[in-house]
Amino acid sequence: MANRQRMIAGNWKMYKTRQQAQVFIKELTQTLASANIELAKDGAAQAVLCAPFTALFGLSEALKPLSVGVGAQNMHQANEGAYTGEVSAEMLLDLGCEYVILGHSERRAYFAETDDAVAAKTVVALQKGLVPIVCVGETLEERENDKTSAVIRTQLGAVLQALQDESVQQAVASGAWVIAYEPVWAIGTGKSSSADDAQQVIGLIRSLITETFGQSVGQAVRILYGGSVKPENIATYLAQQDIDGALVGGASLQAASYTALLEQSAR
Ligand code: PGA
Repeated sequence: MANRQRMIAGNWKMYKTRQQAQVFIKELTQTLASANIELAKDGAAQAVLCAPFTALFGLSEALKPLSVGVGAQNMHQANEGAYTGEVSAEMLLDLGCEYVILGHSERRAYFAETDDAVAAKTVVALQKGLVPIVCVGETLEERENDKTSAVIRTQLGAVLQALQDESVQQAVASGAWVIAYEPVWAIGTGKSSSADDAQQVIGLIRSLITETFGQSVGQAVRILYGGSVKPENIATYLAQQDIDGALVGGASLQAASYTALLEQSAR
């Protein structure tokens, strides 16, 4: 059985000014201490917080003593250039980011992000040494029309194909990339997927990765579930064989609930 370190990645979306982020860190320091959680210890889950660009400056320094990694929620695939309003991988590294969420359904739906763009960004993230957290997931209409597997195959397929690029073979083989299965209808709605349904889709994701890159990569890559994950329901997901943690929106905004998620994710 693979021994993948669990990951609890918070997605702050467009919440928190720098000052609010500072307050969160202060509270997190306290809640982790009172729950007796030392994230640097063996068996602890890997904690990551993906914050708005404006809050990233200083966040990685402040979170380092707590062993919480920092990520962005998007990036552009070009190294630099005339792309008004965009931010590159190098700029994120410069701010101390180690992770980046790519292809979140809100970016796909509201900012017209395509499978090809997500795939290109994933390759660049790995080339630069960022760990991409690539999101895939079906809408309610797609689920009701039995299209879940087809949607996952298309969205993930674009990424897996792009990851066959020579330049990222080492990074791909190291397993330093993460997939998040987030059914769109479960995000921010309080209607989480059943753990069995989530396992079924995540099992498919792992088998597609294994088909493309072989058993050892298939067993190394971490796959998260996302969509209304809370301290009250995370255990049911973690009990599934292929689910390695969660990508969490709402419940990552408060230090107490984020800490409760980490507490339940320790092995
Ligand atoms: P939620 O968001 O936990 O608030 O449902 C998850 C996400 O969008 O990543």
